[in-house]
Parts: sequence; structure tokens; C-alpha cells
Amino acid sequence: MKQSSAAAAESAFPAFDRERQNGMLTAASAESAVLRHDSDNSGGAAEGAFSAFDRQCMKRAFSLARRGEGRTSPNPLVGAVVARDGRILGEGWHRSYGGKHAEREALDAVLAAGLSPAGSDLYCTLEPCCFTGHGKHQPPCTELIVGSGVRRVLIANRDPHPAVNGEGVRALQAAGIAVQSGLFAEKGEELNEAFFAFQRRGRPFVQLKIAQTLDGKIAALNGNARWITDESAREEVHRLRGRSDAVLVGRGTVLADDPELTVRLAKGRNPVRAVLDSRLSLPDSAKLLSLPDKEKTLIVCAADADAERMQRLRDRGVTVLPVAAPPDSSGSPAGLPLAPVLAALSERGIRSVLVEGGRGIFSSFLKEGLWDKLSVFIAPRIMGDGIPAVSGFAAETVQKAIRLGAVSTRRIGDQLLFEGFHVYRDH
Ligand SMILES: NC(=O)c1ccc[n+]([C@@H]2O[C@H](COP(=O)([O-])OP(=O)(O)OC[C@H]3O[C@@H](n4cnc5c(N)ncnc54)[C@H](OP(=O)(O)O)[C@@H]3O)[C@@H](O)[C@H]2O)c1
Repeated sequence: MKQSSAAAAESAFPAFDRERQNGMLTAASAESAVLRHDSDNSGGAAEGAFSAFDRQCMKRAFSLARRGEGRTSPNPLVGAVVARDGRILGEGWHRSYGGKHAEREALDAVLAAGLSPAGSDLYCTLEPCCFTGHGKHQPPCTELIVGSGVRRVLIANRDPHPAVNGEGVRALQAAGIAVQSGLFAEKGEELNEAFFAFQRRGRPFVQLKIAQTLDGKIAALNGNARWITDESAREEVHRLRGRSDAVLVGRGTVLADDPELTVRLAKGRNPVRAVLDSRLSLPDSAKLLSLPDKEKTLIVCAADADAERMQRLRDRGVTVLPVAAPPDSSGSPAGLPLAPVLAALSERGIRSVLVEGGRGIFSSFLKEGLWDKLSVFIAPRIMGDGIPAVSGFAAETVQKAIRLGAVSTRRIGDQLLFEGFHVYRDH
């Protein structure tokens, strides 16, 4: 694990920096923010090796990369800038899956402006790709860069994709191009957390989103949960949805809330909506089954669920995804096993899943350790007896309780948004 300098931490985590300025982030949590990533992905030069102009150009490349948010998956977000003699000549970003890569966009922009990229520097948020292969839509960027006359390439992160992972850098160096990596590496990890998680863990990035009262309840005892948080928090949730490939809830949440799980309070396209419903027992009247884009509603059920019901749902235009669910010792189904559920979602190109509840689902993901980030909206209400956010497992001691890393807090309306990351022990 790489420990970056304090300067790198500041530029890598602008939200944390704001918190620090507001006095809301402790030194310990700021440090863990730097430590949260589970592998050394900078692979590169010390921070001092980069000029102020280098930093400016790479920052620009990052803001360009974000323009592709919600549209590039399963590809990463990438931005690129071409500059020479302190002047930006062209810029680009990966706009959507299957489209031109950021490097090509940026180099094309230079040519379109009637300029030549010869002797320039190319700033890329991610290592340029260097392979052709099955399912790849674009030619290798390294060949394009080599042919363009670029003299130096700066990258934030090495691409962990097994077909790249340092090979892109080597291909450029073999052609005599200077390569410097590691500029804003932490920021790059944050930008492409879903892409990196998939490359490292072979499953989608899982973010658990909980709206709870101060005393940890997600609904009243009768199941009523509307609304624990105010509109400003719900807008933020819609933004999160727009950035996720899929949202996921349990059958109990659909029965209690009848949610649409669409993006209405923010800009962005609707993600896939996955519901875990082993026995296909949702009522026909559930809103999720009648939305205009209902093919995006994905009912995940046990492989031996009622075949007729499966067909009826498919005839309605809803997607049904059966997964093999082993019975528990009593012979009855024990809920869908989450690893195969996530594998089935991966096979459909899903790289990030926003888990929206309820208690049973939050508890299972936490218990099985199949999560990466926890985002808890804490509302200034006290419920007393109610439905807790998680239950069904118990840490023996406080020391053995699940401990989050890289925690941060942000105020949204009257809520506190508390976020933290899974601390993996396998690195
Ligand atoms: N405030 C919030 O953030 C929030 C968010 C969402 C929901 N809620 C509230 O939470 C309550 C619902 O929670 P809930 O626990 O009753 O329902 P839930 O967690 O939404 O759904 C649980 C159901 O999902 C199915 N399931 C399939 N695989 C599972 C697995 N591996 N682990 C767990 N469940 C699995 C099971 O039904 P089958 O066995 O039939 O498949 C299970 O009964 C409602 O009151 C709702 O309003 C609050």
C-alpha cells in the first residue's frame, strides 16, 4: 500500500479538503483517506517531479473525464489533454462505451485546430491501452500516440486491466517516449473506483446507501420509511443512482415502499433496477414492473422459482435472472447467495451497484463482506423502537465490529452524510 504525501492527499480528495477546512475531518480520518486504497497504483514518479503546469493539465484531464460519468461502463472514465510550451492544444474524454478513447479525442482535436501534436506532452488520467482483442471497439492508443510525435506522456494510474497493466507504458517507452506516472494517482483511484474494484476483485463495486435516524432506524415498526431524509438528501441519492450501473433492493422494500428507483431529482440516465425476490412473489401491481423502461427492471430469483411466473414477467417485458440458491439446513431457501448474484450482474456488464435496502439486504451484504463503500444519510430524528439498519449478526466485541476506513462527513440539508470504505485485510 502506498502512503502519499500530505500534498498528494489534498489534491486527491477535494471533498476531504473541504471538510478539513471546515474542521470536520480529523487528522486520523484524513490519513486513512490516503491509506484506503488497497494496492500501489501510482507506479511512478515523486510528486516533486511534476510542474505546476503539469498539475493544471492533469486536473483539467480529470474534469474532462468526469463528463463521461454514467455512460462509459464497463469501460473506465478517462480524460486527456495535449499541451506544448505551456499551452493546451487539444483535449478529449471517453464519452461513452464503445466510443473513441480520450487520447484519440484529444489528438484529433489538435489536428482539427490545424495544429501538430509533434513534440507535445500528453496528459492521461489512465495508462493508454495497447491491445486489440475480442470485444474491443477501438484500436490501441499507444500506436496512435507513437505515430503522433508526442514526446512525453503523463499518467495518473496504471490500468489494472490484465491486457494493459504496465504494458502500455512499456510500449510507449520502447518507442522512445518519456513516461511519467503517479500524478494524482489517488484522485484517479477515486474517479474509477468501480473499474478498479472490478479488475481487482472480479465483481462490481458495491456501495450501500442507508437513510437512517440518529438512533440507527431505517423505518418505523410498521415498515413506514417515507421520508426519513429531506429532499436535498434524496436529490443526492438520485445523483448516486445516475452514476451507478445498477441499484439493488430486496423484495421487502418493494412491498413496503413500492419504489421506482429511477433518476428524477437529478440529471442522469436510469440505472438497471435489480430486485432480489427468490420466489418471484412481488405483486403484479409493483411500479417497477410497469415503468416505461421496464426491461431495465431485473428480478433476480432462485433458479427453481415458478417457471410460469418467470415467463409471465418476461412477457411483460421485465428481465428475469435466475441464480442457483442452495437451501439452508432446514431445506428452505436462505435468501439468494450474493456472490452469484453479483457475478450474474457482472456478466451483464454491470460494474457498480448502489444497494438501497432494506434491512435484510444491508445485513447480508455486510455479513458476507461483499461491499466497498458505505454511505449513511443520518437524519435528525429519533425513532425509538423501529426497524434497524442492520441485524442478524453480532460482533463478539467492539474490537471485532466492522470498522470503516477513509471516513468522511458532509452536511446535506439537515442530514449528515457519513461515508467510509471497506478495509480489506487481504493486501
Ligand atoms: N431508510 C432506508 O434507507 C430504507 C431503504 C430501503 C428499505 N427501507 C425499509 O426497510 C424495510 C424493508 O426491509 P426488509 O428487511 O423487510 O426487506 P428487504 O431487505 O428489502 O428484503 C428482504 C427480502 O429480500 C429477499 N432476499 C433475497 N436474497 C436475500 C439475501 N441474500 N439477503 C437478504 N434478503 C434477501 C428475501 O425475500 P425472499 O426470500 O422472498 O427472496 C428477503 O425477505 C421497509 O420498511 C423499508 O421501508 C428503508
